[in-house]
Amino acid sequence: IVQPVILCGGAGSRLWPLSREMFPKQLLSLTNQHSLLQNTILRIRGIKSAEPILVSNEQHRFIVAEQLRAINVKHDGILLEPVGRNTAPAIAVAALHAIRHGQDPILIVLPADHTIEHIPQFEEAILKAVNLASEGALVTFGIVPKHPETGYGYIRQGQAMSAGFKVSAFVEKPNLELAKQYLESGEYLWNSGMFVFRASQFLAELATFEPHMLTACQQAVAEASQDLDFIRLNKEAFAASPDNSIDYAVMERTTKAAVVSLDAAWNDIGSFAALWQDAAQDTQGNAVKGDVLLEDSKNCYVHATQRLVTVVGAEDLIVVETADAVLVAPRHAVQDVKKIVSRLKQTK
Ligand code: GDD
Ligand code: MG
Repeated sequence: IVQPVILCGGAGSRLWPLSREMFPKQLLSLTNQHSLLQNTILRIRGIKSAEPILVSNEQHRFIVAEQLRAINVKHDGILLEPVGRNTAPAIAVAALHAIRHGQDPILIVLPADHTIEHIPQFEEAILKAVNLASEGALVTFGIVPKHPETGYGYIRQGQAMSAGFKVSAFVEKPNLELAKQYLESGEYLWNSGMFVFRASQFLAELATFEPHMLTACQQAVAEASQDLDFIRLNKEAFAASPDNSIDYAVMERTTKAAVVSLDAAWNDIGSFAALWQDAAQDTQGNAVKGDVLLEDSKNCYVHATQRLVTVVGAEDLIVVETADAVLVAPRHAVQDVKKIVSRLKQTK
């Protein structure tokens, strides 16, 4: 069996003020009428698989459940994290949940904040990955890098395997200098952040590299409580898990990583720059949403939700207007929006 695991516990702070603590980006409709989470689930409809397992922050449980209902999707459990411990524990509890009846599915781990344009290419890559995973690999998807992005993981492609390649190096979020070297070498791919592996295989790697995390997650699942549709992980146990991403905890260390190339117009909607890139742009490179008027402006992203927003004579500018907050930033500074969010948290 193949089973999707949807990670929807992120904060999305670089998309503030659209993305809020109580309503983070993956639950927003940013690219079409569906939320990023709904799009993630709808995207895999063509792949024969069991009902998805979702892992979410407990604060967002009703929105998540309602969004599934709205697209008529059943699930095999919404696991609720009492606190965020990053992606490695989130995937661990999903894997433990997946094997609870003695089965051992191949998991397709999908972040809930990506856009992918070409579905047939995506499906083809997933099928290749499932084949590799059935041979024991932990499979990543490699994207040909376009710029020296420091927010991504980099994969060096090794020797050919049946449907893909061995990973000869995995480097999570390198500094700019390294990212430039990797880009120039032509030997590296971006890690897409989606993974495919057998549940037991991932747990075995975790036992080797992060034994405390595994123990904490095992206890959090064993002592979880059922609440309506939701599975509440045991708070004390889960909070005791080390905080780490799958990339650092497992992918940088494992010798079983494989990579399948993905050429499907993939994008991680991490910042307003990504949203601008993903949106339909006019001939001047502007992308607008809502009631917006632009004059003599180029390469801007302007998003209005409550009132008319006008921009004159600007270039590479981001303007986002909401009922109670407005963001204005040059496009190159969009990664720093999260600094505003942490300052706002301090003063709250
Ligand atoms: N349930 C849950 N709990 N989900 C989480 C948590 C958590 O504690 N933390 C993050 N997520 C979800 C996010 O919502 C997102 O969908 C996904 O997991 C990935 O987390 P990010 O925080 O967005 O990771 P990243 O973008 O910095 O890096 C990852 O993705 C890149 C590509 O987008 C890495 O895998 C990189 O190597 C990769 O290049
Ligand atoms: Mg991301």
